[in-house]
Amino acid sequence: MQTRTVSELLSQEIVIPEVEIKGWVRTFRANRFIALNDGSTLNNIQCVVDFEKFDEALLKRVTTGAAIHVKGELVESQGQGQKVEIQVNELFVLGDSDPETYPIQPKKHSFEFLRENAHLRTRTNTFSAVMRLRSALSFAIHKYFNDNGFYYMHAPIITGSDAEGAGEMFQVTSLDIKNLPKDETGNIDYSKDFFGKETNLTVSGQLEAETYAMSLGKVYTFGPTFRAENSNTSRHLAEFWMIEPEVAFMDLAGNMDLAEDFMKYVISYVLKNNREDLEFLNKRLQDEEKGKPQLERSDMNLIEKLNFVTDNHFKRVSYTEAIDILRDSKPNKKKKFKYLIDDWGTDLQSEHERYLVEKHFNCPVILFDYPANIKAFYMRLNDDGKTVRAMDILFPGIGEIVGGAQREERLDVLKQKMAAINIPEEELWWYLDLRKYGTAVHSGFGLGFERLVMFVTGMSNIRDVIPYPRTPQNAEF
Ligand code: 4AD
Ligand code: MG
Repeated sequence: MQTRTVSELLSQEIVIPEVEIKGWVRTFRANRFIALNDGSTLNNIQCVVDFEKFDEALLKRVTTGAAIHVKGELVESQGQGQKVEIQVNELFVLGDSDPETYPIQPKKHSFEFLRENAHLRTRTNTFSAVMRLRSALSFAIHKYFNDNGFYYMHAPIITGSDAEGAGEMFQVTSLDIKNLPKDETGNIDYSKDFFGKETNLTVSGQLEAETYAMSLGKVYTFGPTFRAENSNTSRHLAEFWMIEPEVAFMDLAGNMDLAEDFMKYVISYVLKNNREDLEFLNKRLQDEEKGKPQLERSDMNLIEKLNFVTDNHFKRVSYTEAIDILRDSKPNKKKKFKYLIDDWGTDLQSEHERYLVEKHFNCPVILFDYPANIKAFYMRLNDDGKTVRAMDILFPGIGEIVGGAQREERLDVLKQKMAAINIPEEELWWYLDLRKYGTAVHSGFGLGFERLVMFVTGMSNIRDVIPYPRTPQNAEF
């Protein structure tokens, strides 16, 4: 007899005389009905025990959270709420769970409480649904790129370069930090460090991905990324996963087309393949919204929002147009924005991004051609000499979800830009080589994976869409 999953058994139409299943008890009702879950689906399978046939001491051990092994007959259910159920013939408790101390009781727990119990939170419906969707989305991402001729490239995690030039890096060292080697001038002597130089955890695999795009043509990375920015928000993590495609001979317009097609594909994929989990999260969100004042409720439910993204064009708007819209907007005139927009050249805050997406355009927006001095050094300078071929994709409820650009492919311009912000050429000699030998137009972008998972699941805190969030002052588990 082969052990099956709850998901397999629930899809059976026929009576099966002998089935076997293992899982964790969600509830045990009336000394008769065990709701069993094994993670294969949101749904539990009902296991019916005839308590007269079993030892009382054994049944006492069937508590919420216990791991059990059941053998029995799969039959049409007598009760409502399920098509089939298991008539239990044999029952084994594999692992007890003390009901006095088991944290995940069959009741509503706050997300804060579950974050403190992140090792057990996937035993709840919400978190198992979110993490199954997270898994499906990663698969869809790999599938999209594989089906479209991209190669998966593994960018290094330890690196000597700061791709974004923002200096928000975690240092990697094997030096004894209580007793650092110093050189004659009193500075730390990194030649004594493991790599013989200063190294950090990567903030982006882009620069290395560019080297592969300029030989393999179409590549993407999908890996962990680290930022030591001290922003304790619901949208920032110190460790997050990023997807970074990079394509040779593709300009900014092609980059926007790729990003839009890709985002639509992965969202459609889960709409088609993960219906059950999405519908559960949709309902969860609707219940949550009922507790909010009318004005704060959204006009679309979760599934409608996802369909809206797959069915509509992303609005493409230049930074300059966006600034005009924002300058003339009500919240700006009435001084409702925390950061007021007056001059061209200021960076957009998330309140501005959300105004554009949620109030003004009411659809996903791609902003492009940003001022050069608020964007990274590698973006291609436009002929106006003051804007760069950057693009950010803004999503409702999320704000920036994608950041990308056409890259500066001209050696002289790139050198000037690096000099202006004091990036030594020796540090990026290999990056400059790409511009010396067979340079060409190329572009790419970075999608913050957790921001995508937030959008798809409707979860409002980024800490709830990654198994073990790393944020300032927190690296438990
Ligand atoms: O806009 P960013 O900084 O762009 C880059 O890193 C480029 N090198 C990407 C490229 O062109 N290949 O980051 C890209 C995306 C953001 O739009 C956001 O979704 C996500 O990564 N992101 C974060 N997600 C969670 N926590 C953080 N601290 C994040 N910082 C960026
Ligand atoms: Mg960005």
